[in-house]
Amino acid sequence: VPEKDWVLKLLSWYDVNKRDLPWRRSKNPYAIWVSEVMLQQTRVETVIPYFERFMSLFPDLQTLATAPEEPVLKAWEGLGYYSRVRNLQEAARQVMERFDGQVPPDPKAFRSLKGVGAYICGAVLSIVFQIREPAVDGNVCRVFARFFGWDDPVGSTMLLKKAWQASMEQLAWLPDERVPDWTQGLMELGALVCIPRSARCGECPLADGCTARAQGKVEILPVRKPR
Ligand code: ADE
Repeated sequence: VPEKDWVLKLLSWYDVNKRDLPWRRSKNPYAIWVSEVMLQQTRVETVIPYFERFMSLFPDLQTLATAPEEPVLKAWEGLGYYSRVRNLQEAARQVMERFDGQVPPDPKAFRSLKGVGAYICGAVLSIVFQIREPAVDGNVCRVFARFFGWDDPVGSTMLLKKAWQASMEQLAWLPDERVPDWTQGLMELGALVCIPRSARCGECPLADGCTARAQGKVEILPVRKPR
């Protein structure tokens, strides 16, 4: 089936080309959650040392939930967007109180926690529990916008919706054990190959079927909103 073909190509590419990142050695929901909160607004290279230090200082949900605020903020110093870590600590307390200390694998329950939006929910639940919830960030939007030749502007609700829908459709038929790799493969392609400028189409497993490539639009998609 042609529709499945490019998805399988992406997964095979990910198997061979995925980076060895500290959080990828873990299936601990708390560790993946911490990593995704850091990665939501900060580059991978910057996140790595912060992630390792944060995990050694606050190795589990209970430790974070019961820690005073000051050392938690201190551990975040330099990452910025402090509301992220304030929310994370509050959410850790909510998990202790409402879910007996276990990260709930149910999307609705998880999203009820402080600071957990669609992206964090999809990323954590798909990577850890193989739940079919897409995780669409800027990288993933870019990959889809180019592959399908969508000209909706960056950051628009329409682009997000289309990327979410496309990811969901593929998740529907993927075997459970490939769900985490689908989430991370899309992100990895956007981070390593389908990059914002000077995309490395020669290395791209999806170049064959890519609309932007066929139409010479790789450098203009996704469209930047005129200001
Ligand atoms: N960006 C957001 N989530 C990521 C992840 N799990 N691995 C690499 N880059 C990411």
